[in-house]
Amino acid sequence: MEDSTLNSNNARTIYLETFGCQMNELDSELVQDQLLALGYMFHGDRASADVVLFNTCSVREQAENKVLSRIGELGVEKKDGREVVVGMLGCLPEREGKKLLSAYPQLDFICGPSELDHLPTMLHNAVAGERLSASDRSALQGNRSRRSAALSAADDNLELLDLARAFNPDHRRSSDKSAYVRITRGCNKFCTYCVVPNTRGAEVHRPPDAIIEECRQLVQTGAVEITLLGQTVNHYRYTHDLALNSEGKEVPQIGPGLTAFRKPLDVSHRITTFANLLQRIHDEVPNVQRLRFVTSYPKDFGNDILEVMRDCPRICNYLHVPAQSGSNRILKLMNRGYTIEEYLEFIERARKIIPEVEIAGDIIVGFPTETEEDYEATCELIRKVRFKNNFVFHYSPRPGTVAIDRFEDDVPREDKRRWLNSILALGSEISGEVHKQYEGTTVDVFVERLSPKMIKNNGVKLMWESGKVQLSGRTGGDLICVFDVDSEEIANDLIGTVVEVEVTNSAPLLLLGALVHNLVER
Ligand code: SAH
Ligand code: SF4
Ligand code: F3S
Repeated sequence: MEDSTLNSNNARTIYLETFGCQMNELDSELVQDQLLALGYMFHGDRASADVVLFNTCSVREQAENKVLSRIGELGVEKKDGREVVVGMLGCLPEREGKKLLSAYPQLDFICGPSELDHLPTMLHNAVAGERLSASDRSALQGNRSRRSAALSAADDNLELLDLARAFNPDHRRSSDKSAYVRITRGCNKFCTYCVVPNTRGAEVHRPPDAIIEECRQLVQTGAVEITLLGQTVNHYRYTHDLALNSEGKEVPQIGPGLTAFRKPLDVSHRITTFANLLQRIHDEVPNVQRLRFVTSYPKDFGNDILEVMRDCPRICNYLHVPAQSGSNRILKLMNRGYTIEEYLEFIERARKIIPEVEIAGDIIVGFPTETEEDYEATCELIRKVRFKNNFVFHYSPRPGTVAIDRFEDDVPREDKRRWLNSILALGSEISGEVHKQYEGTTVDVFVERLSPKMIKNNGVKLMWESGKVQLSGRTGGDLICVFDVDSEEIANDLIGTVVEVEVTNSAPLLLLGALVHNLVER
């Protein structure tokens, strides 16, 4: 590569684009921390970067197509003489494997989500222009069994990568008041439509002490809100081995199953459940003002978790708990493992224990064999649960899943589109009612940013005609709330804090309000 492509520090510039879920957003943040520490620089211009990295998602075909079209464009640029290193990270290479390298020769390397600790070496080699064999250009778990992948993740990668940030608090951007913390990696559910168990491997849980330490470090470096991440976060469960003496008392271990006395001992277990973990973070990290978690699985969600949520004021009363469908027949074909009656029983229990809880979900429309009757059942479910919102997706057949092998994608495109649109319209009507109920009440809002409406014209901030500045944040129940303040100075002071807002008006997906202490001052 020509020296002219280097910036003044001789650092390589990287453009990193992220697709997919919060897991990927967190991976990208960790990747960025790791590479910044090695002297790389990040910037937002793909056209001039020395290195282009895509952290990809494979959950629906559309997500893959988006990134593949960008790879296509880079192929053309490379043919035209541009010197740029192109790397693909995340779930698409994990699903597709090494054949991506021959299909897209413009790719310099591919790296799966649990191999990101190999990224610096791969990037270094690619930047140094070394001609590498296909096997040196890929780091994927796909060739290992799910069990050994889980074990190796538990032994090293998971902790190494997830804690990289906690051990380097200086690399955290101090403006980030909201942080993700992974508590579980992978998924064991095997819903028939879903690639995630293949791309993220078997479920592995991190030790609670490591999670709590990471939360503590994040709060020390400025985080106000922490969101715990897992594909089925309520299934979190960590088993500690305990060595017990003849009186049943715990004896300190010097290694797995060994104590200083080297006597045969009973090994017992202590289990940290998700409820225990939430309680411990709430109590042991008192400066975390907001604690959230996603995504919940409708099955095995015990009252213990709901009671901890109710009793700990800094745990948000919010559940993202996808139903996927309102039809028992479809749920069975999806292998979701619950019935609609069980889902509704859970929602009723959650609302009884936490009356102010807000519930969001995901819906897939057009699953194979879905009929008008199944679609009606989904509408019925949406009416009963009164979700604050649902993410609604067309079914997308994914290679490597049971559904693609077993069922034909037989729902006409037109039906899928019609059902999706009417589910969105119904969802919006209900969301409007959910938001309206807040009018006249006072809510706590975690202030995130200037309202997107304010950031127009290439970042030039526009004042409202009244001269006010609009801020946007979220309530504990994850409702978006906007309100005006008098100046940009006040706005900047409030971003990253939790304030009280009186709700004066609402719309589907939005609360409008007035800052309470401003009201008092007047
Ligand atoms: N672990 C989470 C979901 C992770 S994937 C859970 O089980 O709730 C995020 C969402 O993508 C899913 O909830 C589902 O609604 C959607 N999704 C997954 N695979 C899909 C597919 N093949 N086609 C369409 N939507 C899909
Ligand atoms: Fe996919 Fe189901 Fe696991 Fe969610 S629970 S990640 S939908 S397999
Ligand atoms: Fe996509 Fe992988 Fe997340 S497939 S949804 S980025 S776990």
